[in-house]
Amino acid sequence: MADSSNALHESRSDLSAHTVNMHRALVSLQEELEAVDWYRQRADACGDENLRAVLLHNMREEIEHAAMVLEWLRRNDDSFDEHLRTYLFTQVPITEAEEAATGEDAGEATDAGPRAPAPPGLTLGSLKGG
Ligand SMILES: [Fe+2]
Repeated sequence: MADSSNALHESRSDLSAHTVNMHRALVSLQEELEAVDWYRQRADACGDENLRAVLLHNMREEIEHAAMVLEWLRRNDDSFDEHLRTYLFTQVPITEAEEAATGEDAGEATDAGPRAPAPPGLTLGSLKGG
């Protein structure tokens, strides 16, 4: 890797092919998210309405790219799969999603107030595609 910002931190010969591909995906996700941030800021500051529209269009494209890479990560890493299934597309307060998914107390204090009930049909089995 040529750029120090996305360099491997260990010798390539010590890394599995899977780890190198994960590195590629993780760096790509970082780059896509950084681009989203940059385009949104440029659009905010841009005084030309038509250029702003182009910048926001490009920002949305970068969000699509980020989502595609994130899905690759989910399909290729069990921990990403587990945690994305726990937290994404839930309706409960985010800090309660783990407990809602597993039925187990996460063991952390919460100031979220009264507990919102889990959405109907949201069970560990349903989250795991069972
Ligand atoms: Fe992109």
